[in-house]
Amino acid sequence: MSTNWDQQYHDGETPWDKGAPSPPLLEWLDLHPAEMQGRVFVPGCGLGHDVRVIAARPGIDAVIGFDLSPKAVALARDFPASGGETYVAGDLFALPDAYRGSCDWVWEHTCFCAISPSLRDAYVEAVSSVLKPGGQFLGVFYLDPYDEEHQPGDGPPHGSTLEELIDRFTGRGGFTLVESCLPTRAYPGREGLEWILRLVRN
Ligand SMILES: C[S@@+](CC[C@H](N)C(=O)[O-])C[C@H]1O[C@@H](n2cnc3c(N)ncnc32)[C@H](O)[C@@H]1O
Repeated sequence: MSTNWDQQYHDGETPWDKGAPSPPLLEWLDLHPAEMQGRVFVPGCGLGHDVRVIAARPGIDAVIGFDLSPKAVALARDFPASGGETYVAGDLFALPDAYRGSCDWVWEHTCFCAISPSLRDAYVEAVSSVLKPGGQFLGVFYLDPYDEEHQPGDGPPHGSTLEELIDRFTGRGGFTLVESCLPTRAYPGREGLEWILRLVRN
C-alpha cells in the first residue's frame, strides 16, 4: 500500500475504509457506556466513521478527527454531523501547541499501523502530549495484517506484537495499562487479528 495518503483519497483507493465504524470500538462502547467522556482526539481518522459514532455518545463534548490528508478531511466533513465533531488536516508529528494537554481521551484505529515503525515512539509521545494528565488512550491495534501477498517489511499496514506495544506505551511512554483484551467483533477478515488496549497517561 502506498503512503501517499492524500492521493489515495483523491483516487478513491482506500481499501482500509470499510464505510462503517470499527466493530471493536462499537463493542467497547457497548461494554463501557458511560466511560468515555469530554474531549476526544482521533489521529488518522480518515473519513471519520469512528469520530461520528463517538461524537453521538452522551457525555462527549467534542471530538477532533485529525488526519494528514486534506482530501480525507474534506470527505469526512461531507457526512451529516452527529454531535460536536470537527475535522482538522495536519501531521500528528507536528501538532500545534494548542493541542497540548487538551483532551480527555484518544481513540486509535489503524493510524499506528499506517505509520512507519521508526515513528512509533514519536507516535506515543504525540498522543501522550494531547492528553491531560490522567487522560486515557484507547486503541484497537491491527497486530497481524499479514497475508500471502503482504509480509512484514512491506507495509503499511505494519504489524506489531502485544509485548512491543505494552513496552512502548508503559515503559518510556509514560502510560499505565488498564485494559488489554481481544475484541469479539471485527470487520470481516480481521477476526482474531486485532487487540484492544486501554492506558492511562501518568
Ligand atoms: C489506514 S488509514 C486509516 C484511516 C481510518 N482510521 C480508517 O480506519 O478508515 C491511515 C490514516 O492515517 C493518516 N495518517 C498517516 N500518517 C499520518 C500523520 N503523520 N498524521 C496524521 N494522520 C496520518 C492517513 O492519511 C490515513 O487516513
